[in-house]
Amino acid sequence: MILTITVDGAVVSFPDRDGQNLLDVLRDDIGVTGPKPGCGEDACGACTVLVGRRAVTACTTPAAQLAGQQITTVAGLAEDGVLHPVQQAWLETGAMQCGYCTPGWLTAIAALLARTPDPDDDRIAAELAGSVCRCWTYPRILRAVHRAAELMNHPELLLPVPPPADARGWGARPAGPAPAAPRLPAGLPWDQAPKDGETFFGPLCDGLVAVVSDAAAGAPDGAAFDAARQHSWDAPDGAWVHVSADGTITAFTGKVEAGQGTRTVLALLVAEELAMPPASVRLVMGQTDVSPFDPGTSGDLLTGVRRVERVPAGGPVTRPAEWQPAGHEARAVGGADVVTGAKRFPADLRMDGMLHGCVLRPPAFGATLRSADTTAAAALPGVLVVREEAFIGAAAPDRATARRAIEAVDASWDRRPQPGPGELADYLRAHPIAAEGRSAAFRHEAGDVDAALAAGPLRLAARYTTAHVAHVALEPRSALASWQDKQLTVWTGTSTPFRARRELAAALGIPEAVVHVLVPDFGGRHGSAVALEAARLARAAGRPVKVQWSRPEEFRCGYLRPAALIEVRSSAGRTGAITGWSFCTINSGQAGILSPYRIPHQRIVYQPAESPLPQGPYR
Ligand code: FES
Repeated sequence: MILTITVDGAVVSFPDRDGQNLLDVLRDDIGVTGPKPGCGEDACGACTVLVGRRAVTACTTPAAQLAGQQITTVAGLAEDGVLHPVQQAWLETGAMQCGYCTPGWLTAIAALLARTPDPDDDRIAAELAGSVCRCWTYPRILRAVHRAAELMNHPELLLPVPPPADARGWGARPAGPAPAAPRLPAGLPWDQAPKDGETFFGPLCDGLVAVVSDAAAGAPDGAAFDAARQHSWDAPDGAWVHVSADGTITAFTGKVEAGQGTRTVLALLVAEELAMPPASVRLVMGQTDVSPFDPGTSGDLLTGVRRVERVPAGGPVTRPAEWQPAGHEARAVGGADVVTGAKRFPADLRMDGMLHGCVLRPPAFGATLRSADTTAAAALPGVLVVREEAFIGAAAPDRATARRAIEAVDASWDRRPQPGPGELADYLRAHPIAAEGRSAAFRHEAGDVDAALAAGPLRLAARYTTAHVAHVALEPRSALASWQDKQLTVWTGTSTPFRARRELAAALGIPEAVVHVLVPDFGGRHGSAVALEAARLARAAGRPVKVQWSRPEEFRCGYLRPAALIEVRSSAGRTGAITGWSFCTINSGQAGILSPYRIPHQRIVYQPAESPLPQGPYR
């Protein structure tokens, strides 16, 4: 049976599939991506829409119940080409970081203000208790609600709806269908291509390209250049901008925007240095084909590096005291797209002919596949089952079918014993491992610590533990992968696009030069795991495949903040001055563990350990 609803004023039809929720219908059948997938169980509000004037969470609302009804998403809040008061209030107060939660908040607040034109703080807190902002912008959200209430009485102050950012030019951000990856004419990613004039003008129009070069000092060459490129995003010839004949400036960076405001800040700095209005600057971020090599936004930058940089005094960089656009209040670049629902996160992207993928997960971390019968899954109409060693995935025309196929796999697993919460600290101590880089073991010792600890008239010892903590970014992991002419393109949210390129190439057995990673602005902090899943399925299917993790997958398979055991022993003299210090931390990392105090006898140790759960950096 075909059902009909009205979404943002347009009448649309969709097939009545058993148990289909409104969120999947809006996003997958109709292509309306303002409502976001978050918790999947009415606990975060990211998918809030209006049914008539009532706010509901689309993830738990059966679509079939809504036949004939009027649905309003964030994209339908504006009327007559003018922003809704709550959209404008959001922009004025800057009530967003990544913006992933914003569409849900806006629709929920629009419903609240329709019922209660001037709510007080208690009423706002009570009525919006079902909405969550993982970036913790609540104080600004509160201000935004009050400002929206004011604007409801002043329609003359409301601004026109701005056009989507992509309408203003290439490369600002993917919108709607995933854009083709820009390719350089050499056929190589820019960081691997020869740096001649022709390199630049494949994806770019005529104009001027300015490349940052260490001409005065003489650019390093050979091994020195490679070493620099491996360790520094701003290596010679590593940064460049393009200025077109119409004055538009396009700057390229391997950095990504994950809600920290880097897109806004970097654009302001480029505008500042070039003495141009900020509106003329576009930033292309995290696209491995055209961005300077960047190892990622983390401490990895200096791991293993011993390098002295001499920066000439009185260089050409504008002093902060002379800044014009930079250093002053500015609206977030792309903020208008967030409040109108035009911004596309990785999970919002789609391609013609795209399939949806789902992956078989172990029942516990570390469990290994003993056997699997995929016959029933492969027999489902439209389903392709892919098996590559322990990887089993299914691709299907819709997510519900792909999920059903995975549920139909008859798998058995070998589990390994896992420690309970009360055994975790002792488990970490009993399972030291060797590690490299910033995860490597660390030991610093000075003086005679044991003697100082034994002699000190004042002695203190303490043992601390920290638990594994789930990140719970509101945006679940998602990636879209497409193969064409043996070239792989993936769109995914990762803070390390170049590392993702390397990992994808290694896992798939292909050169890095044929892997193209594009990072739309996103709200979680993810690696390359979901991109690899999508790439495997897309390669087997011969069609683009999108994989989007569910909230249970996020909790069960995503990495956690490391758990830790920390043991401290100390001694002090009668005056209270610390004389001996023994500090040992297991599994939590070595950053910041050196003592800031002058302690004559000290031993500081970091020991990596085998973790019983997946772990990684915490945002
Ligand atoms: Fe709310 Fe990021 S701005 S989740």
